[in-house]
Amino acid sequence: MAIIGIETVRYCVEDVALCTRYFDDFGLPLDERGPDRATFLLPDNSKVILQSLADVPVEGSRLAGPGVHEVIWGVDTRSSFDRLVAGLSADRDVRIDDAGTAHFVCDDGLAMGLKVWDDHREVRTATDPVNSPGNIRRMNTHRKWIARARPKYIQHVVFMSPDVEASFVFMRDRLGFRMSDHQRLLGIFARADGTTDHHNIYFLNANAPFPGADGRLRFHHVNYAVTDLDEIMVGKNYMERKGWDRSIWGVGRHRIASSLFLYLPAPTGGEAEYGADSDAIDDNWIPRSWEPLFGIAHWMHEMPAFWSQGADWDVGFVASLAPSRGSVAPDDPTLSLPVAQGRHPDDAETGQASTLPRELRNAAR
Ligand SMILES: [Fe+2]
Repeated sequence: MAIIGIETVRYCVEDVALCTRYFDDFGLPLDERGPDRATFLLPDNSKVILQSLADVPVEGSRLAGPGVHEVIWGVDTRSSFDRLVAGLSADRDVRIDDAGTAHFVCDDGLAMGLKVWDDHREVRTATDPVNSPGNIRRMNTHRKWIARARPKYIQHVVFMSPDVEASFVFMRDRLGFRMSDHQRLLGIFARADGTTDHHNIYFLNANAPFPGADGRLRFHHVNYAVTDLDEIMVGKNYMERKGWDRSIWGVGRHRIASSLFLYLPAPTGGEAEYGADSDAIDDNWIPRSWEPLFGIAHWMHEMPAFWSQGADWDVGFVASLAPSRGSVAPDDPTLSLPVAQGRHPDDAETGQASTLPRELRNAAR
């Protein structure tokens, strides 16, 4: 185990004051505020930093436009930190600042960092029991009422990448991430080795016909985890009362990760997502290979036109990553990543070249 979550997301935005008001209304706890910078501190001691787009946080970043320009990953121990930094330093500059955070740029141009997360706090939440016909879990007891959504931690961050597979392979081979799922044509979900989140990062194909995708490396959204559907809806209503733009899709549930979602347009660029009730997975999980529209949702409140005809029920396992009887099953036509593919930097020496998922390769042309 090494990376245990997202310790900081650093936004570079056009209007720091406006974005500060947005995240205050969104429910993030404001910690520090200055004329050109604001910091929010979440219950797990992760940070959301807002600063001006004029300040490039890491030299060499190739991210276009506003949004999250740097993700700092929290690391469990000093020895894990030293091992990861030593590996990264083999072929790139790694700058360690006064606070001990290591900053670097990934092969795809994303700026990231590593920090020993010694003040990481466990988050505790309580869900209400759910009644269903013939199945009483709350007798003479109503559900709890809350006044505001209060995100608990930063669950994942999403970037549009012109080379999804290369972006993923770097995270896998250099930072110990695992593939969670493959959404054919659209992208790859990946989880840090020290978390049970379905994914902590998603690389969305920048060449796919997706809103905002223009072939360039861009920020897409951050997911802020809340407790349940009620907290999502309380947050939604509050943001609307404050005059912020409404979500296009409304509330929905992804089929991939089973997670409830609400994407809100944000003045930071991209979107801010309230998320709840995601699948939790560990190294026993076998990644799925999803038909993209089938995977995108189980249901959505404001069904977009592209989803009006539904989708083919098409999901399987990524066969090259599934247990087999001694050989790699050849029957997955969409993904051909090698099976012994670096579960961790310590065992990344497979000697096998990574190969691009064929459909993603075609889509990238
Ligand atoms: Fe998300």
